[in-house]
Amino acid sequence: MKTLKKIFEDAMKNKYAIGQFNFSSLEQLQGIVMAGEKTNTPLICGTSSGESDFFGMEEAVACVKIMRERSGVPIFLNLDHGKNVEKIKKAVDLGYDMVHFDGSKMSLQESIEKAKEVVSYAKEKNVIVEGEISEIKGSSTFSDKAIEKSDLKDIEEVVDFIKESGIDCIALDVGSIHGVYRDNPEIKPERVSELLEKISCFVVLHGGSGILDEDVRKVISSGVVKVNINTELRFAWKKAIEGKMKKDPTEIVPYKILPLARDAVCKKVIEKITLFKGK
Ligand code: 13P
Repeated sequence: MKTLKKIFEDAMKNKYAIGQFNFSSLEQLQGIVMAGEKTNTPLICGTSSGESDFFGMEEAVACVKIMRERSGVPIFLNLDHGKNVEKIKKAVDLGYDMVHFDGSKMSLQESIEKAKEVVSYAKEKNVIVEGEISEIKGSSTFSDKAIEKSDLKDIEEVVDFIKESGIDCIALDVGSIHGVYRDNPEIKPERVSELLEKISCFVVLHGGSGILDEDVRKVISSGVVKVNINTELRFAWKKAIEGKMKKDPTEIVPYKILPLARDAVCKKVIEKITLFKGK
């Protein structure tokens, strides 16, 4: 199987992106993997702090391993927005393929120190490290409120962070925000090109839900190699279950309800994979 690093290099060269799709239940994960199988596309499954606490990190590693072996498609697992170094190390030990160290609430110096510690621990096991210093706000839910504007970090500061810490990937703030709001965010793809002119790094787009397709394509053309999606998958999952419960209020059998949620997630992931490939 190709390594995740090789896949990112290929994506960078050929201007496409790999999707990271978050999950916290088995049928969501089944839907994500099914989409990878149907399109024969590598993908990353993600668990945030809350998602990994609910699903279990060991369970996530075991399920992804079984599904990867069975499907034959390169499927990877990332610990999303890890803020605690001990938890990140645990994910590395358990077999996550990638870890995201989120130091966006720390000072630059503290963030560099902690990211270095994560990098030296993860490198021993060939685990990819993503870093973040310019906070990507919001949470992965729907809201009818106006979008919160982000304070974009100076690119030079981001460059210093990448250089000093030795991370492989950077969650760069380009104006996106986690979740879906009343309006679409104003995306600044030029920040990706500006960064890549100064330093070589794999750039990640967070808050991939609720962004106009054309803006997603623009950031990918500028060099983004990973796009994270969560809210739109959660919404597809909920809508499918709600629809079934409305249509058939007496149904109580999980294996008759949940396949609809799995299929709705799969459909949404295929839509995103097609967008990220640009074909
Ligand atoms: P969305 O919930 O906006 O899709 O963002 C997901 C994400 O960035 C996970 O890190």
